[in-house]
Amino acid sequence: MFVAVMGYGTVGSGVAEVLKMNAGSIKKKCGFELELKRILDIRKFPGDPFEDIITDKFDDILTDPEIEVVAETMGGLHPAYEFVSALLKSGKSVVTSNKELVAVKGRELLECAKANGANFLFEASTGGGIPVLRPVSQCLVGNEITHVAGILNGTTNYILTEMIKNDTAFEDALASAQKLGYAEKDPTADVDGIDALRKICILADLCFGKNVDPGNVEAIGIRNVNLADVEAAKKLGGAIKLIGSADRLGDGRIAVIVCPSFVKNGSQLAACDDVFNCVLVRGNAVGEVCFYGPGAGKLPTASAVVADMADCAKHNGCDRSPEWDEGSEGYVVSGDDFVSEWLVRASGSESGIAGAIPGAKIISAAAESSEVCFTTPELSYGSLNALLGSAGAQALSVIRITDY
Ligand code: HSE
Repeated sequence: MFVAVMGYGTVGSGVAEVLKMNAGSIKKKCGFELELKRILDIRKFPGDPFEDIITDKFDDILTDPEIEVVAETMGGLHPAYEFVSALLKSGKSVVTSNKELVAVKGRELLECAKANGANFLFEASTGGGIPVLRPVSQCLVGNEITHVAGILNGTTNYILTEMIKNDTAFEDALASAQKLGYAEKDPTADVDGIDALRKICILADLCFGKNVDPGNVEAIGIRNVNLADVEAAKKLGGAIKLIGSADRLGDGRIAVIVCPSFVKNGSQLAACDDVFNCVLVRGNAVGEVCFYGPGAGKLPTASAVVADMADCAKHNGCDRSPEWDEGSEGYVVSGDDFVSEWLVRASGSESGIAGAIPGAKIISAAAESSEVCFTTPELSYGSLNALLGSAGAQALSVIRITDY
């Protein structure tokens, strides 16, 4: 079967490499070869082994009746959305690694695929090379899922690990993540938690069966986390990780957030370092399961893309795509109403904080900088900010305390 790739960057070139490197075993498993006929990219690649099949014309893929499965690895919403829609409408199946496209337009594209007898699969959009979306939507179908959470961004996990274990400066760690091909084109999406936000929304869509608009979810990145927070976490017996989580509440709503989070030593999430991701799912039949592996990078992500291409190719004409309902007003609890225990570093006085925040436990107070580290009992993010205001204190970092 003939296939094509759109976008010859880190992931797209990885897909071409994997298709070539593992052509024999893929053929054996699929029953036929996945032959790469076209690669779309506006750039020129003189001397590249795939130079002859690179085109800058989308129509070379769209109008080629021999190409049945297309991998979109361009990233960004536009023109990826327009290209994917056109391909699905023409009956071609599309697989993608594009988190933004799936988080924002996934539901619509799935409907479009179903209406046109095609498939739209996106395993590589979440967790890089970790098989997690298919297991969640197929292997855990016998469960009511109550909770999903994870380290979902390889770049920030790599940066935090480098800062904590090797004393690397933030900028140097980020530069090295970019060099290794982990970071987004605009790494603020990694650092500010936007990439993890898109991924937790995709997981929540699949786990809870209803669309979560990323625009309704609070995302706090790792910019404000410093060594004082790391030390405070160590004193509490754990580590800080950027975690996206989604909980189903008793009233049917879901509470979703991305923020730096305290995890206890000994937990699977605390042991997940470097570019690795770890996704924890709680179901009412299975209990707790964890999915762990490389969350970014050329070949790991390509591994997931190629698996989706093979699935589409092997099951051409069968519906393999997941689905979920439309979202609704009030379905996602607002960031201000998100309830947790918190680990806070704030500028202010120890007595002011202890007086204004009932149950606050001071961990450390640095007289010279008037910085106070403390924990709070369960309270909403909005109440925490209001109480800090009444203590005359300003939050410097806010870290969620988790039970994992
Ligand atoms: N920038 C992303 C990350 C790439 O670091 O996780 C994989 O989605």
